[in-house]
This record gives sequence, C-alpha cells and structure tokens, in this order.
Amino acid sequence: MILENATSKSGRHQALIAQADEALKENRGTLDTTFRLNYHMMPPAGWMNDPNGLIYWQGDYHLFYQHDPYQAKQGPMHWGHAKSRDLVHWEHLPVALAPSEDYDKGGNGGQGCWSGSAVDHNGVLALIFTGHVDGKKPEEAQCLATSVDGITFEKHAANPVIADSPDEKRFGFRDPKVWKHEDLWYMVVGYGKDGLGKGIIYTSSDLLYWEYRGAAAESDGTMGDMWECPDLFPLGEGDRHVLLISPMNIAPIKNLYLSGKFDYESCRFEKQHMEQIDYGFDFYAPQTLIDDQGRRIMIAWMNIWGAAMPEQAHGWLGAMTLPRELTMAADGTVRSHPVPELASLRGAHVSAASITLAGSGFTAVDHVQGDSLELDIVFDLSQADASEVGLRIRCSDDGSSYTEIRYALAEQKLYMDRNLGGAGDGGVSEAPLAPSEDGRLLLRLFIDRSSVELFAGEGRVAITNRLYPDPANVGIVFFALQGTAIIETLDVWELSSIW
Ligand code: FRU
Repeated sequence: MILENATSKSGRHQALIAQADEALKENRGTLDTTFRLNYHMMPPAGWMNDPNGLIYWQGDYHLFYQHDPYQAKQGPMHWGHAKSRDLVHWEHLPVALAPSEDYDKGGNGGQGCWSGSAVDHNGVLALIFTGHVDGKKPEEAQCLATSVDGITFEKHAANPVIADSPDEKRFGFRDPKVWKHEDLWYMVVGYGKDGLGKGIIYTSSDLLYWEYRGAAAESDGTMGDMWECPDLFPLGEGDRHVLLISPMNIAPIKNLYLSGKFDYESCRFEKQHMEQIDYGFDFYAPQTLIDDQGRRIMIAWMNIWGAAMPEQAHGWLGAMTLPRELTMAADGTVRSHPVPELASLRGAHVSAASITLAGSGFTAVDHVQGDSLELDIVFDLSQADASEVGLRIRCSDDGSSYTEIRYALAEQKLYMDRNLGGAGDGGVSEAPLAPSEDGRLLLRLFIDRSSVELFAGEGRVAITNRLYPDPANVGIVFFALQGTAIIETLDVWELSSIW
C-alpha cells in the first residue's frame, strides 16, 4: 500500500526528533511557573502556536501543535504532540515532526513543518502539513507523513505531494485541512491572491495525487488578504457547512466563520452568515475534529501574533483554549460550548442566589475568589434599571488592578476590559449580545492562572483573553451601574489542575 512507502531518510528525521525531545527534557526543568496554567494545554517548554492534526483516533483525542522545542520564540517549526482520553487531561508525547528535508528546512527566515491536519487512512495516521522555507521557490508546499502507532511519524518519499500553488503570484499557500466525504479526500488550503484571502480545494483518492478544484470561497475585499488555517466541515442538518478562517490584515478581527452550503460536486461554498467565532484578543487558528459521539469539537491557539506575551521570558509560550463543542442553530449561527467533560475538574462549590446589586460600590460574595475557577452567573435583567452590570476578576486587595466584564443593557454589548489587568497587553474586547427573551443574561467564565474564557448568550458569544495579573490578585466583585440589578443565581467551582 502506497502509504507505507515512507521516506528512506527516516533515520535523519528520527535523530532530529530525539534531539528535540532531549532539549525539552532539559528546558522543562528551568521554567518560571508564575503564569503556567492549571487546566489548559500548554507545551512542556518552548514555543507553541496553532493546534494541528486534531483527530479522535483509536480511542484517544490527539492534538499536535506548532512547536519550537528549543526556545520560547517562533523558530524552525516542529509538530509537538499530546493526547487525551477525555479532552481534559493531556499527556505529552514525543515530538512528531521535525524539519529535516529541503521542503521544510533551510534558509534564514521562517521554516519548518507548518500547520496542517490529520486523518485516518485505512488504520494509518496521516499528517498533512505545509513544508515552509522562506525565500525558497516555491516557499510553501503540501506534504505527508504517516504513522502506524500514532507516535512515530515518517515523512513520505513522494513529498511534497502538492509541490506548488495554482498561481505563481500568491500570498500564502498553507495549512491544509483534509476530510473525507463519501469515497474522496477533500483538502482546503489557506490562500491569498491579489489582496483576497481564499480557501482553495483539492481532491484525492489516496492522499498522494491531488487534483485542484478551485476556490470554495474568497474574500469580498473586506475579509483579509490571506486566510490562514481554514477548516471546512459539515455542521447541522442537510448540506450545511462551516468555513472557519483566520484572516490576515483586517485587525482587530482575527477569526471569522462563514456558515452556508458546500457543494461537493462543484466544490463551491455559498455563504449565508458570517461572524466571529470568538471576540477576544487571544484566539487564533482554530481547528476542529469530529469524535466517536459525532461531536464537532474546536480548539484554538489562546494567544495572538504580535502580542506582548509575558510568559516568553519564563521559558515557554502558548496555550490552547478549552475544547468547545460547536452546534448549528436554526438561524445559521454557530454556538460554542465548553465540553461537558470539564465538569470533572470541579472541586469546592459555592452557591448563592438573589444577590441585589445596587447603584454604587462593589459586592463581594463569601468564598468567591481565586485564579482557577468556573463561574456560572445568571443575571435577571427583567426588572433591572441599571445601565450596566458585571464583575471584576483578578482584583488586587487595593482595588487598583482587575479585569472587568460588563454588559451594557441599552447598547446590548458585552465587554471585557483588561486595561488595568496587569502585565501584557491591555485593550477592551466587545461583542454584540441581545439578552434572552425572558430577560436573563447568563455568563459562564473559566478563569485560569493567566487566562479567562467567557461564554454568553447560550453559546452565541465567546470572549477569550490572556491575563497576566500579580498572582496574589484573586479578588472577585460584582456591580451594577446607575441603578439596580439582581443576580438570580451564582455558582462557583474551584477547578483542579490537570498536571
Ligand atoms: C498561523 C500560522 C499558519 C502557519 C503557522 C506557522 O498562526 O501563521 O498560517 O502555518 O502559523 O507556525
């Protein structure tokens, strides 16, 4: 079988992987742990960006990631590797891919095994990635590596399996996401040409020979000039699909989803709705998998290019968001919910009800504080006359440092303001959000030692940000501005560490 015909140079690749694993072993002992997270996936040491190769395979969830095992900055990219039985607890595995060939190594700039995806091909775990060498012609090509045990990967002798882009002049040709429909493999690749980001499609019956099928979708001029990390997948009823993209050069927007219809004959995607999948600063390059229960699960890089990244000085960089299950609502909007398995982290529980927030000042609730928490808050806004309601988290004792989450009733907007949040970048994230029909506002927060993920509106809105407060700042207070409002119920759990 063609997939077993791996490269004869595998000795070199395996030696480079052993060297990378050795460096990680040394480096992980030297980390400053101030901002290490309790229950989010992080690299053992060094640099991590995009999630790659997400797959549920032979009973485990596998997560690969863009990785420099030698340093906490972007260098020659390897694929790090971890697996999980429950999407909550992660076990680090040996590095899966190291740059070793002329299509993924060399030059003085960006290089390596860049982002891609994983599929099962007759029991073989296949990784499809972009070989990238800055300045080389062509700079980017699509490549294949395979494994029978899910741990040791060999690059294929036929690499690169797509040697060049369809047009000579293009801005980016990378991040292949492959999936199977009926008997054919489909690949969507991130592409940019003439100032327009695109998701282009290839098809194959064997993962080796690929036929170009044109662009599934492209920017209308407002959606970025290159679409990094596209992911195209069915969600919901009929032929409904979602195209997730990380568009370049339309700051502050860093992620978009298009929902609509994908036609497998013509390979065209018809957009019906477009929105951000997350409104935070630290959410990029999301990728999804489908598991044995048929759930579509998304994980993203919980950082962003160009940010201050205080943990870099501590010998590591990068975290993944919590895994989120995606569903399609009848109106074509995508909802995201942290997977229910996360409840296994719940420890000490505080529950309160009917808390009146009035006018001025802040309300603390006994025993509600911490840096590793889940909070479920139900505001009853049906009677509220306040202009805004919200809470401050990671508050210092003197109240001068905090991150504020607030909902402006008239504006129907949810904000997260980290301008006084500590080290790292400030900024205010905002998302449109109508209250539910019964006048309730449900906020669900996952606070970890240097992050917060906020979910609202039955999964319609998510805001993900990294925070770098003084570790001693663990206060939480609630407030209503210019009037009163009621917290109907409050549930807070301490979340235990996965490490
Ligand atoms: C997105 C990205 C991808 C690329 C990878 C390189 O964050 O720029 O387009 O493959 O990171 O690490």
